[in-house]
Amino acid sequence: MSSANDHRPQDNNQRNGPVHVAVIMDGNGRWAKRRGLPRAAGHKAGVKAIKRVVEAAHELGITHLTLYAFSAENWSRPADEVAGLMQLILETLRNELADLERQKIRLNIIGRWRALDSEIVAQIDEAIVRTKDNAAGTLTLALNYSGRQDIVDAARSLAQAAHSGSITPADIDEAAFAAGLGTADLPPLDLLIRTSGEMRVSNFLLWEIAYSEFWVTPDFWPEFGARQLGQAVADFTKRRRRYGALSEGD
Ligand code: FPP
Repeated sequence: MSSANDHRPQDNNQRNGPVHVAVIMDGNGRWAKRRGLPRAAGHKAGVKAIKRVVEAAHELGITHLTLYAFSAENWSRPADEVAGLMQLILETLRNELADLERQKIRLNIIGRWRALDSEIVAQIDEAIVRTKDNAAGTLTLALNYSGRQDIVDAARSLAQAAHSGSITPADIDEAAFAAGLGTADLPPLDLLIRTSGEMRVSNFLLWEIAYSEFWVTPDFWPEFGARQLGQAVADFTKRRRRYGALSEGD
């Protein structure tokens, strides 16, 4: 049986590389501390890593890259760090737009980004419009994002639709639910990478990771680049994804 939400391949041997990769970019602060630098320098170096990874993803055939740039929980960091991150996000969106256009990459945002500062919202709106027809790849930034919040939002919109009579409760299935998430128009998540050695999901893409592979590196995010992404992809292609079933030879 298959449905619009069914992402089990016919062949469980994962010979092909991942199409959709998400990254929890962790360790900017520790990278900076090790060098006796302020945390802001770590975030700045983190932007350079994003640029490297966007280019490397393209080389590796990853068409969809989803990055955890600012979580809903990140607001509880010191005010000056939050302000610095917001300024960095604004400047990066401004400075890198031409490069996204050159690489034919579409910018997509998930999370409650419309609640961010109006200058950032305007910059995002412009970037989305200017890159909307780009087909080489999709870069999704999670901004003011919470996986639980996204699930709650999807549940609420289904409840509203049922309340208004446009659907019945029996219409609510996995596909209908997934269609209400921020990631609705993205392919299934193949691989989730986390840097800095932490073994946590930190409220990222909670629904979407159901059948994703997980890859963790001890390297801090500012150290991450084509080499580590290539390793993650090579590991992924060696794994057999079973989606809860047995595969041949088991
Ligand atoms: C984690 O390091 C990093 C973040 C808070 C998110 C990533 C942000 C960037 C790479 C910079 C700006 C992003 C964009 C899209 C322009 P941490 O501070 O949690 O590190 P630590 O765990 O060592 O303290």
